[in-house]
Amino acid sequence: MSNVVVLFLFLVSIFQCFHATNSHSGIRLPSQLHRDSSLVSCPAPDASLYYRPVIGIVSHPGDGASGRLSNATGANYIAASYVKFVEAGGARVVPLIYTEPWEILRKKLELVNGVLFTGGWAKEGLYFETVKRIFKIALEKNDAGDYFPVYGVCLGFELISMIVSEDNDILEEFSARSQASSLQFVENTKIEGSVFQRFPPDLLKKLSTDCLVMQNHRYGISPGKLLSNQKLSSFFEILTICSDEDDKVYVSTVRSRNYPVTGFQWHPEKNAFEWGPKSIPHTEDAIRTTQYIANFLVSEARKSLNRPVAQDVLDNLIYNYRPTYCGYAGKGYDEVYIFE
Ligand SMILES: *[C@@H]1O[C@H](CO)[C@@H](O)[C@H](O)[C@H]1NC(C)=O
Repeated sequence: MSNVVVLFLFLVSIFQCFHATNSHSGIRLPSQLHRDSSLVSCPAPDASLYYRPVIGIVSHPGDGASGRLSNATGANYIAASYVKFVEAGGARVVPLIYTEPWEILRKKLELVNGVLFTGGWAKEGLYFETVKRIFKIALEKNDAGDYFPVYGVCLGFELISMIVSEDNDILEEFSARSQASSLQFVENTKIEGSVFQRFPPDLLKKLSTDCLVMQNHRYGISPGKLLSNQKLSSFFEILTICSDEDDKVYVSTVRSRNYPVTGFQWHPEKNAFEWGPKSIPHTEDAIRTTQYIANFLVSEARKSLNRPVAQDVLDNLIYNYRPTYCGYAGKGYDEVYIFE
């Protein structure tokens, strides 16, 4: 008998609840929402950060496909994976076409919130001189109070080492062509404030045990050589090292002590965006690695104080150019932007 009463009371309370929901609930139709400003409570973004950052990527000599796409004199390219990498972090790209007149490149540098030097092979001539000029301007911008990050990937890091050391013979040869590797964190690495800072603990740990990063280089610098060069050791702090096929140790990740400059001997952009070489890791952890590095890259650029004219940015974005698919050959880059 009492069970029936309990059931009855239960049904009554459900009905009341249901009834109340219909008549006095906080649920509103979309058309009613704008009337109550208390419901629109997205916090204002941090006014000290810039949420429309643009990264300048310097083009490299050639067509990126050993002449399969273009033999034009002065042809230069940007592998699309670097563009996608920047986009993955929430920024857009302005190509810094190194063959353009310096006055134009100089103006384009005023449209960006950081620069990236890509991988490749060229270490001399107009290309090297242009990278050097851009790097010096980046440091000047930081010295003048802006926050203007620089990222050097593979060749990009090697060129920064040559520029900072003022020694074009500073690099050493290594055997690390097309191979995945782990990263060895040097003792007492300060993760705080570095490119690895926001890595989740599990992934940070796996970086040193699993083959999550892609190596593809014939040159590099050993920790001994970097540390014994006064200019390089006062500029760079070594974060990670790796061993090549002959167990020769090279510096694999660095950051500058006083500038927002990060160097990678490895290729953070390849895991998610290049499919040619079979040695590129594509596991979920490898893809997360690409994503966390991209996030860091763009989070640094958001600190830039540069607020360029919107239309000037739109007129110069990489979207004014069309990438070319070259992955059908099953090797090399998948897509490249070619500038002739
Ligand atoms: C470039 O030159 C090479 C060697 O002569 C040739 O095999 C290739 O087809 C050329 N590429 C183009 C796009 O014409």
